[in-house]
Order: sequence, then structure tokens, then C-alpha cells
Amino acid sequence: MKKLKIMSVFGTRPEAIKMAPLVKELEACEDVESICCLTGQHREMLDSVMEIFGLQSDYDLNIMEQRQTLSTITTKTLLGMEGVIEAARPDMILVHGDTSTTFAGALSAFYHQIPVGHVEAGLRTWDKYSPFPEEMNRTLVGDIADLHFSPTVANADNLRREAIGGEIFITGNTAIDAMRYTVRPDYVFHTPLLNRLDFSGKRVVVLTCHRRENYGQAMEDIMRATAKLAEDHPDVEIVYPVHLSPVVRECAARYLGGRDRIHLIDPVDVQEMHNLMARCYLVMTDSGGLQEEAPALGKPVLVLRRETERPEAIAAGTVKLAGVCYDEILAMANTLLDDPDAYAAMAKAVNPYGDGYACRRIVQAIRWHFGLEERRPADFRA
Ligand code: UD1
Ligand code: UDP
Repeated sequence: MKKLKIMSVFGTRPEAIKMAPLVKELEACEDVESICCLTGQHREMLDSVMEIFGLQSDYDLNIMEQRQTLSTITTKTLLGMEGVIEAARPDMILVHGDTSTTFAGALSAFYHQIPVGHVEAGLRTWDKYSPFPEEMNRTLVGDIADLHFSPTVANADNLRREAIGGEIFITGNTAIDAMRYTVRPDYVFHTPLLNRLDFSGKRVVVLTCHRRENYGQAMEDIMRATAKLAEDHPDVEIVYPVHLSPVVRECAARYLGGRDRIHLIDPVDVQEMHNLMARCYLVMTDSGGLQEEAPALGKPVLVLRRETERPEAIAAGTVKLAGVCYDEILAMANTLLDDPDAYAAMAKAVNPYGDGYACRRIVQAIRWHFGLEERRPADFRA
């Protein structure tokens, strides 16, 4: 029997985390040949995820450069994918989310007339420059894709509003599937700092910040507000696993380096990160993935951005948009640290983004599309 060849293309940390459980689900299908192509847009942060999930790549374009530009990521991926697609001739290419790898991966599939499945489809802010370049990446991939795997009903509605072609499935977010592999109540940290932290006696605030549109004034405001927060609250410990981008590292070191109770550490692996969030008090972040994961763990999130494409957890009450200005961020964080009622109102486990079985639905949808499955998967409903 000829197997269905499905090639997953990804290159950054969040894509790898959210594609890993899907690759595993594909590998478990007897009638599917799962092929894994890494662009290597991230290097260390990608390799760490591959190791934790025990995944091997079939192809690795290894494109990363220090301080790479959007153009180098896109062109190196396009050129590298030529040979890979010609050698592998997959029946479908899967891409995830909204990075430059996602966009270039989908575009090269299109150039070779290979159908595209888009995982995490339909997130929108409707502002083409924010997040930048992600909003345009995902919009363009939406036009290319044949199968759209939308995490939520609202994401699917966004695609319908664009009168997009192809089939839309509501699957939940695969991030929640990934957490089934990582979060353990008896987990022991291997990062020395995390092992030493007193999670019951102190209030641990997890910070991450890396978005391109926050470079400059916004990132400086975020860092300055964080410094003040630590200064004003002696029982607060801030843990910031700093992204490997030199722009981010310079800003973090400048405003937060050498301060009491602020721990700037290297990026931690995904198991460490998920279990750190499970034990923390509060998350402050401009990350997309953290906005999905923290609510599932019952942790309040302050989003350090002007907008979000993930309104579901705001509606559910566990996430608030704090913006990127010093005064607003500080005021909102102070409220959560000083007012137990305000904190309690946000600290509730809700799961608008998934039930942990998104990958099963996605694989069923792909097999159904190719006539290997009788039934279309039932939509995920929160
Ligand atoms: C990228 C994505 C962004 C996503 C983020 C997740 C684009 C345009 N941006 O942004 O959507 O939210 O990943 O983290 O696709 N670096 C290393 N080692 C690594 C990773 C990065 O040294 O393992 C450094 C390199 O100097 C690299 C720089 O970080 O040039 C920036 O990486 P890049 O992928 O261009 O941008 P991100 O900000 O990571
Ligand atoms: N993450 C991680 N280690 C870290 C910081 C984040 O494993 O030091 C995980 C996090 O749990 C989430 C993903 O990386 O699953 C989010 O990646 P990032 O914030 O870089 O990208 P975004 O989601 O904003 O695109």
C-alpha cells in the first residue's frame, strides 16, 4: 500500500512545540509517512524542542544567521525548500502559525503545487503591522492553504469573513496537546535557579518579551516597569528566560541586569517552561504561546502588547491587555500583586484554546481529505 506522505515544515521554537505532538500523531498512523523538514530559523531553541520530544528531522535547511532579516529567512527558506520538495514529493505540506518559516514554507509548497495544511489558522488582529510581520504572514498563508486547522470558533469565523477557499476545521490548539507531555505535579527542575526558587514563600512572576514590533521604546518601557515592580515588592521574584535575539538580550541586560530578585536566565527547555508556569504566580508576556498555555494552568496573564489575536482568554477573564507603556503596565501589575480579589478573579483555570486532542482531529481531517477516513472530525468546542 502506498503511504500518504505528509511533510511538516517548521523552524522556530513555538512552531516546534506546537508541531511536535502533531508529528508524533502522524508517525503513529500506519498509512502515513511523516517527513520532518526544519528550516532552522532558530537553532538552539529549535534543537531543544526536538530533543525533548524525541523528534528527528529528515531535512534541515540550517538557515539561521545572527540578527537575521525577514528577507534572509524568507529567501533562504524558499531556495532550500526547492531541493527538499523535489526529493521528497510529499502529498501535503503542513506549516504552523505565522512566522517567516511558515510563510516561506507555504509559498514554496505553492510554487511546487503541493497542497498546504495550515495549523493554527485564522488568528487575526486586522492590523497588518501588528504583530509584525506575523499578521501578514498568516493572512498570506491563509490564501495559499487548502486545509485550515483553526484552534477556535472565532478563528474559523475570521477565515469565513475573508471568504477563504479550502476546508476549515475547528480543532483546538496543539499547544494544549503539547502540555499533556510536559506538565507534571512532581516535576523536578534541572535549571539550578528554578530548583532554588521558593515557589510557596515568594511570588514568582514569569516574564518573556521578544516581539519585533516591541523593539525600541515599548521594550524599554516593559523592562523599566518590571524593574520597578521588583523594587516595590520584596516578596516578588522575577524570572525572565531571555530570548536569544541579540536585540532582546541587550535591552534586558541594560534595564534588568544585576538587580535584586530579577533573574535573567537563558531560554529554558519547554518542560522547564511549562512546569515553571504551572508553579508561578503571574505571567507577563508578549508571547503568543504563553497566552494560550498560562490560562490552561490557571495563571493570570498580562499581555505586553497593544492588541492580541487571542481574545478568547480575555473574554474568559484570565488574560488582560496591559499595553506597552510604563505607567499602564505598572498599574495593572500592582493591582494583581496588591489586591487579592483582583488576583482571584483572574486566577482560574479555563481552557478556551483546546482539550489536548487537537492533533487527533487534524490527522483525522487530513486522512478524511485524502479519502482514508470516512468521517470528518467533529469540531472542538470550548
Ligand atoms: C521569530 C518569529 C516570531 C516568533 C518568534 C518565537 C519571524 C519573523 N518571527 O522571531 O513570529 O514569535 O520567532 O520565538 O518569523 N537566535 C539565536 N538562536 C536561536 C534563536 C534565535 O541565536 O535559537 C537569534 C539570532 O541572532 C536570530 C535572532 O535571534 O537572528 C532573531 O531570530 P528570528 O527568528 O529572526 O526572530 P524572533 O524574534 O526569534
Ligand atoms: N518557551 C520555552 N522556553 C522559554 C520561553 C518560552 O520553552 O524560555 C515556550 C513557551 O512555553 C511557548 C513557546 O515557547 O510554548 C512560545 O514561544 P515564543 O514566546 O518564543 O513565541 P510566540 O509564541 O510568541 O510565537
